[in-house]
Amino acid sequence: MTRLFKKIAVRTGLARLDPGVQKRLGGDYFYLRTYSSDVLSAPIKDLELLEALERAADVAKSQNHQTPTIGPIIDLSQGMPDLSNFFPLPAILQEATFRKEATVNLQKYPRAFGQPGILSSVARKIAADTGVVYDPACEILLCNGASQGLAHALECFVDPGGAVVLFDPCYLFYPWLAQTRGLRIRRVGGPKKGLAGRDQDPNDRRLNQRELERAMRGAKAIIINSPSNPDGSMIHIDDLKLIAALAARHNCIIISDEVYSGFCWSEKFTSIASITAARARTIVISSVSKSHGLPGLRAGWCAGPAALIRPLAMLMSIRVPCVSAMVQEVLPDLIESESRFAPARHNQFLARRDSALAQAEANGFKAEAPDGAFYLWSKVPRGFSSGYEFARWCLERRSVVVMPGEPFGPSGKGMFRYSWGGLQESFTTAMQRIQAVEP
Ligand SMILES: Cc1ncc(COP(=O)(O)O)c(C=O)c1O
Repeated sequence: MTRLFKKIAVRTGLARLDPGVQKRLGGDYFYLRTYSSDVLSAPIKDLELLEALERAADVAKSQNHQTPTIGPIIDLSQGMPDLSNFFPLPAILQEATFRKEATVNLQKYPRAFGQPGILSSVARKIAADTGVVYDPACEILLCNGASQGLAHALECFVDPGGAVVLFDPCYLFYPWLAQTRGLRIRRVGGPKKGLAGRDQDPNDRRLNQRELERAMRGAKAIIINSPSNPDGSMIHIDDLKLIAALAARHNCIIISDEVYSGFCWSEKFTSIASITAARARTIVISSVSKSHGLPGLRAGWCAGPAALIRPLAMLMSIRVPCVSAMVQEVLPDLIESESRFAPARHNQFLARRDSALAQAEANGFKAEAPDGAFYLWSKVPRGFSSGYEFARWCLERRSVVVMPGEPFGPSGKGMFRYSWGGLQESFTTAMQRIQAVEP
């Protein structure tokens, strides 16, 4: 339902006929008129599936559940890299917990932007990784993981009804965020040639310039994610320049989600903000969720010119006043530690990528070698009509959790995504369980 139609349907009570609305309300229509358009636009089917997958993943974590003939559930659905051997997290956390300042800081609201020392650590990291220099005094802002930065950047720069350009396929949160805010989504084929059914040379990694130009005309923002979730593609440097030029021509904000910048296999990471034409209109968003394997810490940041960071900080301070003082306490040590383990992380994960590819292939799944990140992206086996059907089968019959491809975009139809970033042995076992399947 479109937003307007939804409003009319809610006012007239017709919305109760919508199966999605019925599910949300659980048959209790008294509350129908209290729901906002954002809630009524939520992707209920995908969220329900994710909930089921998450429940299964929880069981996997508790390790109590054993499918008698198969063994414990193995979760390949989430991007949670195992980096526990690279840095002494408990020590960092314990030290921080017992530092006197940490306790004192908990008794007051920390600075909305983040404590100055932390912002300097983030600025140093970004400069070392990408060569882009940000002023920690006004160009960096902490957030509760990249997700919060993404949500608020869209809220800050795109009004409901405005257009946002997304790649196909892309991280499923982007269309969900756009959808629940009533934004118009314009899809363009990604570097590995998304947009289902398009007949392209698979070796041509360049974006389609005409398509991009058409999509960016009149758009308020474009979200890029290189390396990308789900297919591990990276945007060619000349295409980054093209995006920068088009964004400048059409006065479009670039939101660059760089959470996988530490996981590049084919080439060095380039931030679009390092292109002069782009820096003035780019918000870079990242976090320690992937780089340090710490998605539960909820620690991330946004960086950009002060004119973009200031309104973002203002909005965030109204929505979620600040990032926890405890997180702010541990963040500098975590950020500083990365340069020490990054080379080992690179070598180990590159070897693991090749091993994962070989294992997938040996078990009947073809996947292109990802240029970055730690996922494989494959067609579901013959006999399954969709990624959803295959994901359900994997969970119910093989105790393996994978992500269906459909929520990632039109080209995700009949695909599935599986992560090789977790424990290596689990990946091997999971591949053996789901190999050469017939439904
Ligand atoms: C591309 C991308 N961006 C952002 C996130 C979420 O990051 P965070 O945990 O920092 O909110 C993910 C998580 O999978 C992701 O794949």
